Amino acid sequence: MNRDKKRVLVLHYSQTGQLTRAARSMMAPLEGRGDIEVVWAEMRPATPYPFPWPFFAFLNVFPESVHMDAPRMRPLGILPGERFDLVILAYQVWFLSPALPITGFLKSEDARLLAGKPVITFIVCRNMWLTAQEKVKRLLAAAGARLIDNVVLVDQGHPLATFVTTPRWLWTGRKNGFWGVFPPAGVSEADINGAARFGRAIVDALTRAGGRLDASILHGMGAVRVNSGYVASERLAHRSFYVWGRLLRAIGPQESWLRKAMLLVYAVFLIVMILTLVPLGIVIRACLKPLIKKRLDAEVRRLEEPSGSGTERIEGYA
Ligand SMILES: Cc1cc2nc3c(=O)[nH]c(=O)nc-3n(C[C@H](O)[C@H](O)[C@H](O)COP(=O)(O)O)c2cc1C
Repeated sequence: MNRDKKRVLVLHYSQTGQLTRAARSMMAPLEGRGDIEVVWAEMRPATPYPFPWPFFAFLNVFPESVHMDAPRMRPLGILPGERFDLVILAYQVWFLSPALPITGFLKSEDARLLAGKPVITFIVCRNMWLTAQEKVKRLLAAAGARLIDNVVLVDQGHPLATFVTTPRWLWTGRKNGFWGVFPPAGVSEADINGAARFGRAIVDALTRAGGRLDASILHGMGAVRVNSGYVASERLAHRSFYVWGRLLRAIGPQESWLRKAMLLVYAVFLIVMILTLVPLGIVIRACLKPLIKKRLDAEVRRLEEPSGSGTERIEGYA
């Protein structure tokens, strides 16, 4: 191994390939350079998850996702003690939690490779990632990793549109836009291509004198933007998933018929909740906003750490 070369490990998991394509776009400026080596490793569960998802199989993974029950994983194929100067953890969100293969990796023996390493999380999801990232932060800290940045890409279109286009894509595999009002599902091509700016900043940070990464290197680059409207709704939804998830796990494994029947009850409950509590929540939030603005702004800033939502450095790396 060439001691002078900076080594970057990219850990990724994608079902449709979108997340891996976005990660490749981000890492493109690092590839093919003499002074940097990029190593790619897929976080693979021993039993793959289906895609497209049958409706019940989709709903049936929420208890384990939320309670972070690690699935059995295939080995990463990285030797223990291999030197890496930076790790990119590219992950997607399932039910406001890290997707099960990410939990599987973070709770496996392989996660020991993270000890003492600077980590950049790279999230590609619909748009609700706040709680998942808090959970990943805890698992990274437990593994002894240093989270230095977080980059987030979310699905294109208004949240009301992605509320239709993302599930349609996940349940049928159809990604196209339709009816003239719904955009294609997933992240826009512009956002995927634009991820290269983060790669350019990573090259700069790795190749400058010393190249030790202790603090954010992607601040001021529009890496994340927290929608303050999601802070309370994610908390509420996660609470509901957590309580119902505990009940469903107690009823039996994913194959249990009783659990499937109860899951159907929960699906109906969830639809009623979405149709009633969500609009009510919007009204309550609008009324409370002047009273809680300061606290909410502080919470938004905390959730945007370590990269922040500033954009002042974008031009230099566009
Ligand atoms: C079971 C399941 C649950 C999901 N839950 C969420 C979620 O809570 N929040 C979110 O923003 N996206 C959610 N998504 C969307 C994923 O984060 C991701 O965008 C999508 O699965 C496509 O990823 P891929 O193209 O890399 O395979 C979920 C997807 C799946 C399959």
